[in-house]
Amino acid sequence: MTNIRKEFPGVLALDDVDFDLRAGEVHALLGENGAGKSTLIKVLSGAQPCESGKISISGEEVVLSDPRIALSMGLRFIYQEINLVPDIDIARNMFLGAEPTNSSPLGIVDHSTLYTRTAELLESFHIDLNPRTVVSDLSVTQQKMVEIARALISKAKVIILDEPTDVLEDRSRQDLFEVIRKLKNEQGVGFIYISHRYQEVYEIGDRVTILRDGHKMGTWDIDDISMDQLIAKLVGGDATHNFPDLPPPQYDISLKVDKLFSGSRCRGVSFDLMKGEILGVTGLMGAGKSELGRAIAGIDPIKSGRIDIHDRPAGEQNPRRRIKAGIVYLTEDRKQEGLIIDQSIRDNYALPSIDRFSSHNLLSHRDIDTEVDVKIKDFNIKTVDRNSMAGHLSGGNQQKLMLARWLGTQCKVFIIDEPTRGIDIKGRFEVYRFMVELLNQGVSILMLTSDYAEALAMSHRVMVLHRGEIVDVVDPENTSEEQVLKIAIGAEA
Ligand SMILES: Nc1ncnc2c1ncn2[C@@H]1O[C@H](COP(=O)(O)OP(=O)(O)OP(=O)(O)O)[C@@H](O)[C@H]1O
Ligand SMILES: [Mg+2]
Repeated sequence: MTNIRKEFPGVLALDDVDFDLRAGEVHALLGENGAGKSTLIKVLSGAQPCESGKISISGEEVVLSDPRIALSMGLRFIYQEINLVPDIDIARNMFLGAEPTNSSPLGIVDHSTLYTRTAELLESFHIDLNPRTVVSDLSVTQQKMVEIARALISKAKVIILDEPTDVLEDRSRQDLFEVIRKLKNEQGVGFIYISHRYQEVYEIGDRVTILRDGHKMGTWDIDDISMDQLIAKLVGGDATHNFPDLPPPQYDISLKVDKLFSGSRCRGVSFDLMKGEILGVTGLMGAGKSELGRAIAGIDPIKSGRIDIHDRPAGEQNPRRRIKAGIVYLTEDRKQEGLIIDQSIRDNYALPSIDRFSSHNLLSHRDIDTEVDVKIKDFNIKTVDRNSMAGHLSGGNQQKLMLARWLGTQCKVFIIDEPTRGIDIKGRFEVYRFMVELLNQGVSILMLTSDYAEALAMSHRVMVLHRGEIVDVVDPENTSEEQVLKIAIGAEA
């Protein structure tokens, strides 16, 4: 790709960017939220037209005016957002448009092969799922796994992965890396790899290109650039990557959960959450973190058990009531459930706080505008202004907006599902500092996370779940990531 230029109203997303990929290499593409990474690969796929620039594949110049052309040239894209057909099962999605057919001249879909092949593939990725499960019943993580597996099995020359490991746990990440190594060494497949987990780049990358505000900062062999140099190039200066200290919790109980049963992945969970405490909840994929959060927040029905908020029964199982009572759940699935993407940043921000912004049935637009502008600055949300559509924000910036809008409400208990997923290094520590600020105001946080380092550094206690049950509650001061993993897996035996 040479001299790629892409402009959106008010934003120069790509300023004459060059990028090349060799056969059989993993080329990491890094940059902060809104730097232009996803835009570059959307130009490559033909999903976004660019103003100027040239693209050549195997030495030949191509015009990728339509995503089908890129596909026919052996390019496979795994976008940041999930792209599966929700209403059909895993196997149908896996082989969509390329279903195995039986030998009859009519080419009828061979269902038994379809399902056995899918089962084998899932197993090779250690994905414990039934090929007949309908995609809409899967969690975000599970959907991502299916999507990745689908790209990896097709005969591809180039595979583009936009933050693939973001929703994956450690084990699945290792499985993915193994497949990547195999495909690149044995079949010469080239990979473009986008991630905010910079350690990964050293694990799997051969070269790295860094974008900042639509400009290319350079390309390096991974052996020629240290992590510190890399971060300095990314953020243009030093970024703190120290976790903040947590203030000690108080002795009042804000949330009491007693023998809670909900669905198949919340089975008899009991704990107390103290005022000013962060209780980390972690575990393997499917351990029931989100299920627990959703049950407490009144979203999913509960079978039995008891929830008390500030010593009072939580009452009817209904998210609106729960918010009134002071508990809110910040979903891990921002795109589907978190934001109204065709409305402005401003309106998305104000929505849950409408009561706070109105008096005598009058809405104070000026107060909203002022506060939104402050939050855009505090959270470093990259946008032209508050009136831009939420859907036009980059992935990580949507995430920041979702956090900012809920943290702006007066809730006393936050259940935050994967708080820093998709957020760049600077933003990540901003989110942590914000959480500490909430603690100082007497807020309690139930933090659901699959990132063990985050769980240990940002919690007063860490609860490890397995198949919907608590296996252990550990003290982060005396526990390592390896130990947490061992506890999470250990229960499996
Ligand atoms: N459809 C659009 N309309 C207007 N602006 C857009 C659109 N898509 C992207 N942008 C803007 O282009 C810039 C680059 O966005 P892009 O999605 O490429 O960032 P990114 O590097 O992928 O970030 P992230 O790490 O958060 O995913 C951002 O300022 C974004 O707001
Ligand atoms: Mg992106």
